Amino acid sequence: MDKTKDAIEILKTYNQDHIIRLLDNLEGEKKQELIDQIMRIDFNQIHELYENTKKEIEIKENKIEAIKYVDKSKLTKEEKENLDKLGEDVIKKGEYAVVTMAGGQGTRLGHTGPKGTFKLDVYGKGKYLFEILTENLKEANKKYGVNIFWYIMTSKENNEETVNFLEKHKYFGYPKEKVKIFTQSELPLVDTNGKLLIDKNYKIKEASDGNGGTYSSLRASGCLAEMKENGIKWVFIGSVDNALLKMVDVTLLGLAIDKNVQIASKSVVKANPHEKVGVFCKMNGHPKVIEYTELPEKMAEEVDENGELKFGESHIMCNLYTIDAIERISKEPLIYHSAFKKNSYIDEDGKEVIPTKPNSYKFESFIFDAFELFDDIAILRGKREDDFAPVKNKEGVDSPRTAKELYEKYWNRNKKAD
Ligand code: UTP
Repeated sequence: MDKTKDAIEILKTYNQDHIIRLLDNLEGEKKQELIDQIMRIDFNQIHELYENTKKEIEIKENKIEAIKYVDKSKLTKEEKENLDKLGEDVIKKGEYAVVTMAGGQGTRLGHTGPKGTFKLDVYGKGKYLFEILTENLKEANKKYGVNIFWYIMTSKENNEETVNFLEKHKYFGYPKEKVKIFTQSELPLVDTNGKLLIDKNYKIKEASDGNGGTYSSLRASGCLAEMKENGIKWVFIGSVDNALLKMVDVTLLGLAIDKNVQIASKSVVKANPHEKVGVFCKMNGHPKVIEYTELPEKMAEEVDENGELKFGESHIMCNLYTIDAIERISKEPLIYHSAFKKNSYIDEDGKEVIPTKPNSYKFESFIFDAFELFDDIAILRGKREDDFAPVKNKEGVDSPRTAKELYEKYWNRNKKAD
């Protein structure tokens, strides 16, 4: 009884009267579940995050410098061999694990189901994104004579479907005992008036709290401890939606070792000044990625003395860390950004509304915000045609059509995929 009162008090304080009405209409278990959820949510945090959506983002340009990078295509044969050898040794010793971030909603793609279950129409019969990732890992395993641990991060929303899918497809031939699935944490969604959305189960609608949640979720799930027990020294973290992602790049790993840094990342040059990708820079002496939504136009177009974009190294979610770096980041709170997205909800009449345009804010921490914790990062500039075929939008740029084209061209150039 008291708990109900407390919950109503909280809702009143934070102007969530529609949830009070919902609570009034619920009984038994459903009501209890909602109350428990209300007591668990940090309303103050959500209120602050919502208020922040109304503020202008300020970037003080004078503190920003271009990032240094090594261009993979410009390495001499000997340089590359030396780096590759450093990387290979780590992998052969079984000290390398990979993490796939698969907890996103994939709202822009509009695929019903986890993004990894999306089938890219390649080579006639097509391949699922999870299948493409598996092939990449299996190839590395064969090459280096190991079985790399593969951690897959899901959201509460898509976990069951992801597990069922991978089970059904027998992990596309990947040794099951080497695949570990863990789930990330969530935050509520709010509409443009700061009201929390309600979901189909008559609860407050929550969604995964961004790919920056990977670090703390690795820790909370026990995966980090397990990695340490297994002697893992280097951890790769990549996205689920890049059909050309190389999860095992010995040159990148070798570069990180050679430079004696804790973090490393593969970049590609921005396709044009306004491409929707985050770019690397150094801010106040620390590595940083500025999201495209937060990069002032003037900086986006700035060129250096060679006519190259000054802030042109795109972050393609191809990141590498020492296990100590993961441990350290997992204990640090990352800031939240807001993303304006389409999210369905239940209205006051109990009807489901499926919006046709963005209607609500999702609060997300970004994987790259952790880079600032370090003094340095090794950046290896790869090639778009070798490393980056994102599947983001339903149509147009970074869509299944462009990813298919890039994937097939790559494999026609290299070796034919079966
Ligand atoms: P994006 O930020 O592009 O988001 O994810 P998304 O969910 O795939 O797509 P939209 O923006 O809703 O259309 C980049 C990578 O981060 C993962 C995604 O699964 C993808 O691999 N991600 C994103 C998470 O694992 N958790 C999140 O909360 C968000």
